[in-house]
Amino acid sequence: ASPGGMASAQTPLGTFLIARTGTASVSVLTAVCTHEGCTVTGSSMSAFVCACHGSAFSTSGWVVMGPANRPLQQFNAQLTDGVVTFTA
Ligand code: FES
Repeated sequence: ASPGGMASAQTPLGTFLIARTGTASVSVLTAVCTHEGCTVTGSSMSAFVCACHGSAFSTSGWVVMGPANRPLQQFNAQLTDGVVTFTA
């Protein structure tokens, strides 16, 4: 819940990656890896990590380590009174 925190959330629409990027900001990304479609579930050193082949993505979804070569889709998100809302 504090800035720098990272989590995944399972919803009726699928699994999403959430990063608290600031005191009043969050980033919400799809958890579907752009390499071969595995669900990204891990995190390490401020990056989301796909366990299938090791791709890593920044909290903005950009590839920081391949083999993936396309960013994760990012959704418009807001943090209000501790509640994350986003449009998928
Ligand atoms: Fe994620 Fe290959 S499916 S790294």
